[in-house]
Amino acid sequence: MELIELTDIYTAYEGGDKPVIKGLSLDVKKGEYVLIGGPNGAGKTTLLESINGMVKITHGGAKVCGIDVNKAGNEVRKKVGYVIQNFYFDPFTPFTAGQVVMMGRYGRMGFFRWPKKEDYQAVEKAIRLLGIEDLVNKPIGTLSGGQQQKVMIAQNVAKEPDIMLLDEPFSNLDFHAREFITKVLEDLSGKGMPVIMVSHAFDDLPDRKIRMVIMNEGKISYDDTCDSNEVEGIVRKASRVN
Ligand SMILES: Nc1ncnc2c1ncn2[C@@H]1O[C@H](COP(=O)(O)OP(=O)(O)OP(=O)(O)O)[C@@H](O)[C@H]1O
Ligand SMILES: [Mg+2]
Repeated sequence: MELIELTDIYTAYEGGDKPVIKGLSLDVKKGEYVLIGGPNGAGKTTLLESINGMVKITHGGAKVCGIDVNKAGNEVRKKVGYVIQNFYFDPFTPFTAGQVVMMGRYGRMGFFRWPKKEDYQAVEKAIRLLGIEDLVNKPIGTLSGGQQQKVMIAQNVAKEPDIMLLDEPFSNLDFHAREFITKVLEDLSGKGMPVIMVSHAFDDLPDRKIRMVIMNEGKISYDDTCDSNEVEGIVRKASRVN
């Protein structure tokens, strides 16, 4: 089943004069592990935000989990995990790391509801999976960049989404954490959840078939499945300047 169906989409930012994504089509099925590469400014983050209904799709069709993204972006966002590229918590942000993980459950709980047993269980499981038990009672803004990144991944794991989008999730992480989170993502995709990850790194990949998508100037210039050890060669070849 196609969980993501983008057909010849064009997207524009508010106030932006030209489209950023220009005639892009992409279908993603259950359990796929998609790595998105390409130069700075190619539109990788914008592609993730198109899937998530965060930028306006001005032309073409976009369905995610069977929902029209342009009509019901809110419903799409409840089903899609999204670990954003750049975030910053002020040291005085009044939430603990544990509370930030619980925010992943808000879409399911609805407003003015209290967490139920299953919400606490999903949060506990995500905290254990990411190995951040020691951080839960600390204010989020006092954690290191890498620790905050783990908390944000845990928040999205606790959400139990149908699709996981990650934008450079490894940028702040040490070797051990990258390996650990790669394993978490491999497990989730093995259970059927498609993982779509923007990354410039070739070494943090699970030992399985990877779908390599390369973007250039708002379009897809390469899209094929390969083994994880072939990724680096493909990226090098695709980004060679002729
Ligand atoms: N909020 C915004 N408003 C207007 N234009 C934007 C906005 N965000 C991005 N753009 C433009 O869209 C284009 C693609 O940006 P995008 O962030 O998608 O690139 P990227 O491939 O993720 O790059 P990077 O590897 O640096 O993260 C850029 O030209 C950028 O200037
Ligand atoms: Mg980006």
